[in-house]
Amino acid sequence: MTDSKKQTASKTPSHIAYHVRNREGSEGFWTRIGSAWLHADGNGFNIQIETVLWMDASHSASPLKKLINQNRGGFNGSPLIPKGAFTMAASTINPFYATNRNPVPVGRPVYARLPFAPKNASPVPHLTSLYHFHQAGEYGDRNYPGNCGGRLIRDLLRFFHSQSVFDPMTGSGTCADVCREMGIPCLSRDIRQGFDATDADCFRSLPAGLEFDFIWAHPPYWRQKIYTPDSRDLSQTPTLATFLERYAAFIGNCAGVLSTGGKLAILMGDYCDRETGFVSLTYHTKQLAIAAGLRQSCTDIIRFSHGASSSRKIYRSSFIPGLHDVCMVFEKA
Ligand SMILES: C[S@@+](CC[C@H](N)C(=O)[O-])C[C@H]1O[C@@H](n2cnc3c(N)ncnc32)[C@H](O)[C@@H]1O
Repeated sequence: MTDSKKQTASKTPSHIAYHVRNREGSEGFWTRIGSAWLHADGNGFNIQIETVLWMDASHSASPLKKLINQNRGGFNGSPLIPKGAFTMAASTINPFYATNRNPVPVGRPVYARLPFAPKNASPVPHLTSLYHFHQAGEYGDRNYPGNCGGRLIRDLLRFFHSQSVFDPMTGSGTCADVCREMGIPCLSRDIRQGFDATDADCFRSLPAGLEFDFIWAHPPYWRQKIYTPDSRDLSQTPTLATFLERYAAFIGNCAGVLSTGGKLAILMGDYCDRETGFVSLTYHTKQLAIAAGLRQSCTDIIRFSHGASSSRKIYRSSFIPGLHDVCMVFEKA
């Protein structure tokens, strides 16, 4: 540890961290995994961890680990962080989680107070710029990588009274399932069925004169997740420049099959690429949609990313976690 704060003079740690494996009805197995020395000012600890624990957040309620105050009686001492089984796991990566007086409850839900929404004539009053429902609904396949949940799509269709829908990057068919439930005709395609939504020829192969008054587009966030080995898959584009070129073609193709007044809803997230760094794909989306002759139709909808696989991980690097993606709705004048 490089913390320059004064430590207690003693070399004996003030606290010992144990991994405790419970056994039904008996003492359990205790394995020492690290030590902590209380700062002289009582405001924090120097921590030395010998074993790094990887655990799933869903285990947070089980008493797998305890940090015991040596000076208060070894095994019988009071746990330093009585509620913090998972907090302890995080502290093995970043001591901040242990030294902070109000530890961030990693893996536990945090309840934020949302602003009141003004009453208005919307048929979907809960559809606001903050979309926070944690239940995805029974649409598509939640195990499909990038599955987006169907409730936002359902609410947008209700709001815009859409009657014909196209989902050109359908993945597990979430949008199609929503439309089936609502009795709205929906055409869905994906590169998995050979339909390259960035290729104008594929759009020309659709029935002549077909137009849609709502297009749901949930493209890959560049190469954050790779969807298929197909080189035409947008997630396979090797550079940001090529991705943006093909993404522009995709948006242009969609604009071409929108009816007048029709809406193109694009769900997109910003992404931090291992080589290129932070890429504001939401910014690029707006630029490309406007360049395709569309205009933004309503506020950005910030969709809280409940259930994202990344939210369960522990990272060694320091960054500001992105906990949302953005749904932008454009319309054809
Ligand atoms: C974010 S996923 C969509 C997930 C979907 N919203 C769901 O809930 O299951 C992106 C999809 O775009 C598809 N895709 C990628 N490149 C494509 C292309 N050029 N043309 C059509 N589909 C493409 C991928 O196969 C993937 O299924």
